[in-house]
Amino acid sequence: MRLFLDTASVDEIREAAKLGVISGVTTNPTLWAKAGGGDYRDVVVEICGIVDGPISAECLSRDVEGLVEEAKRVAGWHPNVVVKIPIDEAGLEATSRLSKEGVKVNMTLVFSANQALLAAHAGATFISPFVGRLDDVGHDGMAVVADSVQILERYHLPNQVLAASLRHPLHVIGAAKAGAHIATMPYSVLKGMLRHPLTDVGIERFLADAEKAAKAARSAGKR
Ligand code: G3P
Repeated sequence: MRLFLDTASVDEIREAAKLGVISGVTTNPTLWAKAGGGDYRDVVVEICGIVDGPISAECLSRDVEGLVEEAKRVAGWHPNVVVKIPIDEAGLEATSRLSKEGVKVNMTLVFSANQALLAAHAGATFISPFVGRLDDVGHDGMAVVADSVQILERYHLPNQVLAASLRHPLHVIGAAKAGAHIATMPYSVLKGMLRHPLTDVGIERFLADAEKAAKAARSAGKR
């Protein structure tokens, strides 16, 4: 399962990219606003210069023609840009047309396995079930990821399930166990995956013991 960062903060992406474990980025208007706004194109192109992988950028048009035009324009910003389109009638039709023309689509705001199956047939490269938002309303978000993966595999469909709206490290484990191809997460969740108090304690103890051993060696040398 590949790991993507779910943010539009260039500073965060720059910092996280150094770890060498991020292979893509997903953005949306909420994340863009949270990161302080600015010209969306500039932000997305800057991100493309930091992470060499799929960078999702949201399309906002609400009709098919508008979506197709916007998606082609946004996809032209950089070869790594993947256009994000929400799943509804217009989104599905636009995705069917765009995928036939080779434009990569991340079908977003997916909340059921049926929507995932439709997105797959429309030719979306990535299909994004929103796990946390389903959990928020008392549904099992990870079950949608697992069902979607199972259906794609059962029919040998080439689309990839991108588990989104992940809120904590256990969601990442759940997505991996469910067979998601990609998990996208805020930087805080990535840091949560990394840190363990026993690792910190272990490092402290190794340093203290190394110091002890070096001291013993020094005093043995004096004798
Ligand atoms: O990738 C989708 C994500 O940004 C949504 O997350 O936490 O707003 O549900 P959240």
